[in-house]
Amino acid sequence: MDLRGRPKCCSLHLGILPLIVVALVFFGYGFVSHRSQELGDSEAVTRVAVGELDVQEVVALSRIVYTQPKALTPSRKDVLVLTPWLAPIIWEGTFNIDILNEQFRLQNTTVGLTVFAIKKYVVFLKLFLETAEQQFMVGHKVIYYVFTDRPADVPQVPLGAGRKLVVLTVRNYTRWQDVSMHRMEMISRLSEQRFLHEVDYLVCADVDMKFSDHVGVEILSALFGTLHPGFYSRSREAFTYERRPKSQAYIPRDEGDFYYAGGFFGGSVVEVYRLTKACHQAMMEDKANGIEAVWHDESYLNKYLLYHKPTKVLSPEYVWDQQLLGWPSIMKKLRYVAVPKNHQAIRN
Ligand SMILES: *[C@@H]1O[C@H](CO)[C@@H](O)[C@H](O)[C@H]1NC(C)=O
Ligand SMILES: *[C@@H]1O[C@H](CO)[C@@H](O)[C@H](O)[C@H]1NC(C)=O
Repeated sequence: MDLRGRPKCCSLHLGILPLIVVALVFFGYGFVSHRSQELGDSEAVTRVAVGELDVQEVVALSRIVYTQPKALTPSRKDVLVLTPWLAPIIWEGTFNIDILNEQFRLQNTTVGLTVFAIKKYVVFLKLFLETAEQQFMVGHKVIYYVFTDRPADVPQVPLGAGRKLVVLTVRNYTRWQDVSMHRMEMISRLSEQRFLHEVDYLVCADVDMKFSDHVGVEILSALFGTLHPGFYSRSREAFTYERRPKSQAYIPRDEGDFYYAGGFFGGSVVEVYRLTKACHQAMMEDKANGIEAVWHDESYLNKYLLYHKPTKVLSPEYVWDQQLLGWPSIMKKLRYVAVPKNHQAIRN
């Protein structure tokens, strides 16, 4: 995680905070059928998506004993738990993981976790993977997709049953901004080539972080974004959206729901494919016009999620920096947190 105004790579920025601090959805048959579909063109992607979005499978549960939900007792009184378009905002206390685990197990869900370890960022992989083994989708099938230009430096981390790691060798870029932005292109390309056939959901995460508490199937939905920890309490005028109308990432000051973090988003493979492809195309158009959005891939992500409303929104429990932000009482859990680092040393 970074301070606003400092160069960064593949990590999140904290906006104006440094001024203070430092200066299925599983949608039913989609699960089975989309893996067997050949995806050569965007038509195929569209067909799959329609199936996934139209039909939400209702699974038959067996007996589970748990605390009764109370219609007159809010799960949380201190935070917003539902967007105006009726997407849940995922905070500790709003969900029962036993019910959700049962539902997703019955659907035989497989989750892909994409992470980019380019150049010196490979040093973060070990802690990222070790903590993911302890906290990420435990009890479900997981495929780690590690994109790297240094495949020989990917550490050997023991993996639990039903979990595997795939190394995807990719090129590097000189500028950290290009390293960060080209993630969108690579995720969209690999979604078409293989993710669609191998997993149901994709979670796209920064590598310079660690899992410090449970991150499970409660996050899964057709499309999800995460409230950026530096902006969740701020008004839309203060969001660091791209403000130049010339850019494809432009958002006017009287628009915007939330400021989403670039370092943790995801959804069904089809929706992540659409998001990453749209963001990459917007970047290419800007590049042709000699402009680059102020916060790079994060700016394009925010533009996309403004006009394609996410079906779940994750609270900042899912992206946090305790060094910068401490541990406020509304945060019952810190689940995915920044690892202290020296950017100057690893950027190149
Ligand atoms: C669950 O998925 C695996 C592949 O990940 C497959 O081999 C298995 O047959 C599936 N089981 C069911 C019950 O669909
Ligand atoms: C970038 O990748 C090339 C191989 O594709 C490698 O030779 C070079 O060392 C890499 N640059 C850095 C800074 O790691």
